[in-house]
Amino acid sequence: MYDERAQLRALALRDYDSWMESTALSVSRSSVSPDTAALLYDFVRTVKPLNTLETGMAHGKSTLSICQAHRDNGAGSHIAIDPFQETKFNSDGLANIERAGLKDVLRFYQETSDEALPRLYAEGERIDFAFIDGNHRFDYTMVDFFYIDKMLRLDGHIAFDDLWIASVRKVVSYVLKNTPYKLVRPASQKRTPLGKRVLRMARRVTQNPLGRDWALKVVPQNVAILQKIGEGPRKSWDDRAF
Ligand SMILES: C[S@@+](CC[C@H](N)C(=O)[O-])C[C@H]1O[C@@H](n2cnc3c(N)ncnc32)[C@H](O)[C@@H]1O
Repeated sequence: MYDERAQLRALALRDYDSWMESTALSVSRSSVSPDTAALLYDFVRTVKPLNTLETGMAHGKSTLSICQAHRDNGAGSHIAIDPFQETKFNSDGLANIERAGLKDVLRFYQETSDEALPRLYAEGERIDFAFIDGNHRFDYTMVDFFYIDKMLRLDGHIAFDDLWIASVRKVVSYVLKNTPYKLVRPASQKRTPLGKRVLRMARRVTQNPLGRDWALKVVPQNVAILQKIGEGPRKSWDDRAF
């Protein structure tokens, strides 16, 4: 007998292609890739961050990965923020989470991240891992980082999706050059095939050949994971070119 919920759980978000084909869950081009979904699941399973947060939920593919990993860890909770869940995504993300039996793991805010994040920070929210995948423009991505950094515990991690977008790489480049974060290798079981790696690097190089983001141009995945390795005030005149 076909048991959608059992299938979702058993998949543990590893085989997204068959998951998409064989279930009625809706996903779209705006969803994270199967590689990224697996990377998020593996990361949360391995590092075991207790409190996680993401900007940009859409159909909930990344949300499913993270929430399922919390469930499989036996602990942890997740916050997702997306202003267009109802209007653009027909509440599919929330429905997918409910059908996967993961509703109790998730807190959802239907707001822009620039509205929700400062409030969550002011309320004393603290997190161990964040996935930034909302509005990908430079200023919005930077604002996501700004407030997430304030909420992130020392040694916590931030993953930036869509390194193929120059504005996202620019933010990550700023963070790496000017704040106490280091790039880490994702704890994923899934390796990026050589052809895909080469294509990704070539695309990033042609986008801005003289850009200073070399460390990011060679990241094999479409995601950069950074770890917070320090805290405290910085001198405002110390910022390096990025
Ligand atoms: C690339 S999609 C996210 C895909 C999702 N992570 C997944 O795995 O399916 C980008 C999402 O960002 C949301 N978004 C757009 N502007 C936003 C904002 N200002 N704050 C938070 N989310 C935003 C969009 O509604 C959309 O759902």
